[in-house]
Formats: sequence, structure tokens, C-alpha cells
Amino acid sequence: MPQPCLSREQRMNEQIFEAIVTTLSAGGQAHIAPMGICYQDEAIALMPFKPSATLDNIVATGHAVLNIVTDTRVFAGCVTGRGRWPTRACERIEGVRLHCALRHIELKLIECRDDPRRPLLRMAPVHEAEHARFDGFNRAQAAVIEGAVLISRLHLLAPGKIDQEMDYLQIAIDKTAGPNERQAWQWLRQAQASHRAAAAKAPSLQLSPARGEGEKPRPKAFCDSLGGQGRRPAAVPLATAAGPHPNLSPEGEGAQHSAPFSTAAKGRPAP
Ligand SMILES: Cc1cc2nc3c(=O)[nH]c(=O)nc-3n(C[C@H](O)[C@H](O)[C@H](O)COP(=O)(O)O)c2cc1C
Repeated sequence: MPQPCLSREQRMNEQIFEAIVTTLSAGGQAHIAPMGICYQDEAIALMPFKPSATLDNIVATGHAVLNIVTDTRVFAGCVTGRGRWPTRACERIEGVRLHCALRHIELKLIECRDDPRRPLLRMAPVHEAEHARFDGFNRAQAAVIEGAVLISRLHLLAPGKIDQEMDYLQIAIDKTAGPNERQAWQWLRQAQASHRAAAAKAPSLQLSPARGEGEKPRPKAFCDSLGGQGRRPAAVPLATAAGPHPNLSPEGEGAQHSAPFSTAAKGRPAP
């Protein structure tokens, strides 16, 4: 029995975990997106900003997959236009899970509370499985996730704030990163630099100070009902067999995003 929706205030007090949500479009195209989720008593809550391919897919199919990953290249890749990652077929639902998932949970939609900007989706687990061990916390992985959030908001946050926070996160990268985190961080830094270069050439891309200064850091901003506009998600072909490489493929480049999260730079060369 679905539980009543939480008020916005209650949601803001819930602990948020960062995961990767995989969905299928009605036509069977797989889509991969980082998403903050909340574990509720009998459900998992997602709050995708509109427009969202993840939202569209979940509403169309009634299903999604929650992927718990420590390969933070997926987070950094998705916000820098590298949206294609190896997947495997799900066991109980029509869908795919990430090959690199330590654990995945197959979900069915039990409640959709619509909102003009940020609907609340409550989803019940129908199956879950573990695939690899969790080796412990790594500061560089946390830094990449924080960096991915910053880069997804390049168009919203003041440049000085982003530069300062990226420089602070750099410390954890320098001290504790492995090869995957270094690569993920390089993508984020490239996106930061590309955005700066583009903004220098086209002043219209520059941040509106009033809007940027008003942005709050997560988690508050995450729970605010800010709306996205004009985004067109990049769908990726369904891939259930062993992928050629756990890395991105060129087809994943160029995903488009908008407020409050966006792809920082489009058309970057593959690493
Ligand atoms: C760590 C992290 C958490 C995110 N959480 C959310 C979220 O809760 N809701 C959301 O709409 N976008 C979130 N984003 C941004 C989305 O991943 C991105 O906009 C994505 O493209 C979702 O839109 P799509 O479903 O159209 O792909 C997050 C990004 C990162 C890096």
C-alpha cells in the first residue's frame, strides 16, 4: 500500500544518497542519469527536474533501476556528455543495470506526484542483487561527485564559487585518487575550462549574477523546486551484452542538459 507523500519540508530533511538511475524509453532505449534518491520505509523516492528523460521513461514504463556505484566516472561522464556505459539485462523487469554497479535494485513505480518543475516518484523494490564488494570510503570519489554537481551547475553558480570549490576538492583528488577518479576529475576540469572559454567568447553564456548568487549549495538547493528548461536528453541504445570497455563511447558525447543541472560542455573530444 503506497504511503502518503511527504511534505516538501519533510523531504528536505531526508538523507539523500547519490546513485545512478537507469531507465528504458517506451521504445527500448536505455538512459543513464545520476540522481539523488531517498530511502523511505517501503519505497525509494526520486525527484527528477522537468524536463527529464528519466522522468519520461519511468512514467512510460513504470520501471527504473537504482545502481549503487563507486566508479565515479559514471557521475562525471554523465554530466560531461559521456552518457553511455556498459549495462546488463535486469532479472525481474524490462530494463538494464550498470555493469559496474556494486548493487542494483529493480524498481516499479507506485506513486507519481506531479509537479510543474520537480515531480516526486515513489518506487518499490521488486528485486535487488549485489555484484561486488564495497571497499570503503574514498575521498576522491566523494570529490568527483561534488565536482559533478558543481559542473552540472556551471550556468547557475558564480565562476569564483565554482573555481574555489573545485580547487578545494582538488586536494582530495591529489591525495587519494586512483586512475578512475583521476580520469573523472579530468573530464570535470575540461568541462570547467571549456565553459569558461565559451563564456569568454559569448557573453550571453555568462552567469547572471542575480541568479547565480541566489543559488544555494546542496542539499537545500537540491530540494528546492527549481525548474529546468529546454533540455533534450540523449538516449543511448539498449546494451545488455558485455560492453567493449567500461568507459564512455563516442555516442555518449553531447548529451544536453539545462537548469538546474546541465551538461557543462558539449562536443568535447573523447578522452
Ligand atoms: C550527484 C548528482 C546528483 C543529481 N541528482 C539529480 C536529481 O536528484 N534530480 C535531477 O533532476 N537531476 C539530478 N542530477 C542531474 C542529472 O543527472 C542530469 O540532469 C540528468 O541529465 C537528468 O536528466 P535526464 O533524466 O534528462 O537525463 C544530478 C547530478 C549529479 C552529478
